[in-house]
Amino acid sequence: MSERVSSKRGGIYSKIQAYIEQICKHNFTVLEAAGCGSGLISLELAMKRNLKRLVLLDIREDKLLEARNNFNKFKINAEFVLGDIQNLPFKSESLDLVFNEGVIEHLDDMERGVKEMARVSKKYVICFIPNYYNILWRIEKRWKRWRGKFYHGADEYRLEKDITHKDVMKLLNNCNFEVKLLELGGLRRDKIFPTELKTWIGILGVRK
Ligand SMILES: C[S@@+](CC[C@H](N)C(=O)[O-])C[C@H]1O[C@@H](n2cnc3c(N)ncnc32)[C@H](O)[C@@H]1O
Repeated sequence: MSERVSSKRGGIYSKIQAYIEQICKHNFTVLEAAGCGSGLISLELAMKRNLKRLVLLDIREDKLLEARNNFNKFKINAEFVLGDIQNLPFKSESLDLVFNEGVIEHLDDMERGVKEMARVSKKYVICFIPNYYNILWRIEKRWKRWRGKFYHGADEYRLEKDITHKDVMKLLNNCNFEVKLLELGGLRRDKIFPTELKTWIGILGVRK
């Protein structure tokens, strides 16, 4: 199972997984918005943590079904909610941890999405996004898109917007969260390259 998750995107998933596990304690209530295609990040988390509640939310029914099937295969329970991250159907400060990966850069209104994540979170918000400042990766993505290829079929959802971790950090800060950067892979050799060359980047918000 871990192998299947971590083999995606050249090992980035295993790093995302590790960051989330570090933060997530047993008995946490967790929302992955959006759970998306696989739901594999949440699935692996549920296998390692004895969560009080785990909710996966996505705007697409087919994606929720795919995630539900993955959970069923491993007989793990979770709630699957059809909904929009820009208008989350949860009470304010009702979940310990709210996270996503590869989602907010696809939203019509990124600001609203991040604010909603902050609103429903009691303590932690984590967003993993592509690193805008990695110029090489931006060129690679545009080249792939031009050739009709794209990671993860993300163009199915909408063209990715150019958002930066600074935008997200500012938004979370304004929502009364302390923020920290979580660095992910850079040109497959993340120890050698500086932040500018990380391919993915994470933003952790902790409610003050
Ligand atoms: C690139 S995928 C994320 C990959 C995912 N983290 C995984 O592990 O497979 C983006 C997901 O965001 C969902 N999405 C896009 N806009 C949304 C919205 N407004 N509300 C909720 N989900 C949304 C898409 O349906 C899609 O499942």
